[in-house]
Amino acid sequence: MKGEVAAKVPAKVDVEAGKTYFWCACGKSANQPFCDGSHRGSEFAPMKWTAEENATKFFCQCKQSANAPFCDGSHKAV
Ligand code: FES
Repeated sequence: MKGEVAAKVPAKVDVEAGKTYFWCACGKSANQPFCDGSHRGSEFAPMKWTAEENATKFFCQCKQSANAPFCDGSHKAV
């Protein structure tokens, strides 16, 4: 099951090596693309991801990506 569409564009984030991120899977977070706890009480849980290196990443915000937590272009079809 996919979350609700939070935005139809990915979020560009400069991630830091060794830092862990919790991607919002439900689409309800006010702190997109990351979890703020708004999924509580639903069947959704955030996806944990740890950066291996400093990089610029595009996180999915439409929540329909097959390559979560990253954008795979699915937002073009929502
Ligand atoms: Fe969406 Fe936590 S707020 S997964």
